[in-house]
Amino acid sequence: MLYQLSAVYKSNRSLFLQSDMASTVTFTSVSAQAGLIQKPRNNGVTSYSGLKTSSSSVSFGLESSFLGRNASLRASVAPRIVPKAASGSQISPQASYKVAVLGAAGGIGQPLGLLIKMSPLVSELHLYDIANVKGVAADLSHCNTPAQVLDFTGPSELANCLKGVDVVVIPAGVPRKPGMTRDDLFNINASIVKSLVEAVADNCPDAFIHIISNPVNSTVPIAAEVLKQKGVYNPKKLFGVTTLDVVRANTFVAQKKNLKLIDVDVPVVGGHAGITILPLLSKTRPSVTFTDEETEELTKRIQNAGTEVVEAKAGAGSATLSMAYAAARFVESSLRALAGDPDVYECTFIQSEVTDLPFFASRVKLGKNGVESVVSADLEGVTEYEAKALEALKAELKGSIEKGIAFANKQQEAAASV
Ligand code: 2OP
Repeated sequence: MLYQLSAVYKSNRSLFLQSDMASTVTFTSVSAQAGLIQKPRNNGVTSYSGLKTSSSSVSFGLESSFLGRNASLRASVAPRIVPKAASGSQISPQASYKVAVLGAAGGIGQPLGLLIKMSPLVSELHLYDIANVKGVAADLSHCNTPAQVLDFTGPSELANCLKGVDVVVIPAGVPRKPGMTRDDLFNINASIVKSLVEAVADNCPDAFIHIISNPVNSTVPIAAEVLKQKGVYNPKKLFGVTTLDVVRANTFVAQKKNLKLIDVDVPVVGGHAGITILPLLSKTRPSVTFTDEETEELTKRIQNAGTEVVEAKAGAGSATLSMAYAAARFVESSLRALAGDPDVYECTFIQSEVTDLPFFASRVKLGKNGVESVVSADLEGVTEYEAKALEALKAELKGSIEKGIAFANKQQEAAASV
């Protein structure tokens, strides 16, 4: 059972945002009360989004970054993590994690592969797709970053792709075209996710599983059922990637309120489709007030941002670059948690007990074993607008969850009757 973290938690600052920074940053003993922002103290660094404040002193040494001395580039990826243990000893995780991308030749998969290839924490990047993955892997393998790139084509190579990996990211499937909802993708993507997760269950059941394939509100419950059927379900390690909703909320709020982007953090809860996407603007950090009109306009824009991109692409797909950016941030956060960073928070769609819905996106604390705690305090003291929106989203989200569960169970019954 996931336990709930209540009033006090440490502030999370998004990793994949850039700022000027010195080569080494030290954060010391800062815990933030929910709803309050405290800026980390640092050494000559004006700001750096993505580093979390910590109750223990944590140094982020960047001097040996593979990106050399270009500060802005270095700051855009995770630095090596060097948490100082109480004993005075230090943990210095090197590139030691294996990450698999399933759907690596696709619109999201390719830029996502590139961003993961840039991570100094990754030793092997396994790229899987049903076609065209060799070229993507050859291309990426020329980047002078530590991760070794391996390619795997077609179902016969999927098991080898997955063996020994720490994190599996699944962007496989078809994207939306104008006029489609994410749910319109269900018929194709549900089967794709089901078969990929079956392979994950067989080959790397302990891995963190990041589901990007839409409709996330249904594909995550499908994945959970498949893992249960295989007897390896760990709800703490199954995540629907909703980071893009946070990235968008942060961007739009910063623009609207003329804030420095790196300072802005808006929790987004619920699900990942239309009205199920619920930005909690009242919980924005730094504390900022919105008129009713601003709240309405921002909420709608964040909820429809995916559609904004689908329409702009006019038939050529949905968000790929921003999705890859957000998904790479979630991968990096997961790797940092696996590496022992004690202060990693992200919003994600998970099995949940914070509402009466069995799955719900919340801000969570990530640790070595996945979700360590859920920041249920985000749902306390919300505005009337947010409370109404929360009630309004429940029917749709419940329907999508149940659709996913029913699909997975029907497939199992069909398989059993053959
Ligand atoms: C989006 O929100 C593709 O679901 C993705 O744009």
